[in-house]
Amino acid sequence: MKTSAFVTAVILAGSASAHTIFQKLYVNGVDQGELTGIRAPDYDGPITDVTSNDIICNGGINPYHQPVSTAVINVPAGATVTAEWHHTLNQVANDPADPIDPSHKGPVISYLAKIPDATQSSVTGLQWFKIYQDGLTASDQSWGVDRLIANKGKVTFNIPSCIASGQYLLRHEIIALHAASSYPGAQFYMECAQINITGGSGSKSPATVTFPGAYHGTDPGVKINIYQTLSNYTVPGRYSLGVGHAPPYGPNRE
Ligand SMILES: *[C@@H]1O[C@H](CO)[C@@H](O)[C@H](O)[C@H]1NC(C)=O
Ligand SMILES: *[C@@H]1O[C@H](CO)[C@@H](O)[C@H](O)[C@H]1NC(C)=O
Repeated sequence: MKTSAFVTAVILAGSASAHTIFQKLYVNGVDQGELTGIRAPDYDGPITDVTSNDIICNGGINPYHQPVSTAVINVPAGATVTAEWHHTLNQVANDPADPIDPSHKGPVISYLAKIPDATQSSVTGLQWFKIYQDGLTASDQSWGVDRLIANKGKVTFNIPSCIASGQYLLRHEIIALHAASSYPGAQFYMECAQINITGGSGSKSPATVTFPGAYHGTDPGVKINIYQTLSNYTVPGRYSLGVGHAPPYGPNRE
């Protein structure tokens, strides 16, 4: 116990500023450009209050880089998208904490919310549904963040083909759990991409959650000591695209 508390303290001290930002999107492998269509702050620090409006799309205590992109990225329903994370907006060579410090283990999650205008500033009151999650692989105790680092900051997932066409925000998130044994402690990193889904069948209306609201300080996936062998991990936030929705799902679906 003393050892693990010491290790935790050292990790915290060593990685105080080792944060991260989702800053680029690829659609079917095509690079859409740095910060194009993404609301990203200049500062790479986390949100820790799950009740704050900052948990929606960031941009409050970490103000957005100006000007915020007015681009809306066209994404065919069913497309493969790739989100790319880096430690900071201005990347430096040979940064050991790029794309994120390896101590920052935890899940990687994506949500969509329909929105009248993907460039509108207000993001409160939206209905979000989860389309991807990569939590813990219990067999080797590896996390979504480990796989993100192995992929040099890139996370690839699919946009469902069964949802309605139109403008959406894509909320892509990492929850770093290295200091999550008490709440607040878990570190929430998220940015929202402005997208326009085309050709969706609209055959499914997924169950939704709100932000804030989806997460609680008492959730088993938010308040957790990861410095032990875990038999399972429950990724926060409901994961439902409705009965009968086809894969792909990320690993560790609920
Ligand atoms: C979204 O895509 C539709 C279909 O291609 C198009 O008519 C519309 O102008 C697009 N909207 C935006 C904001 O790009
Ligand atoms: C998850 O693991 C904990 C202990 O490791 C156990 O108490 C709990 O029942 C498990 N939950 C599920 C859903 O398997």
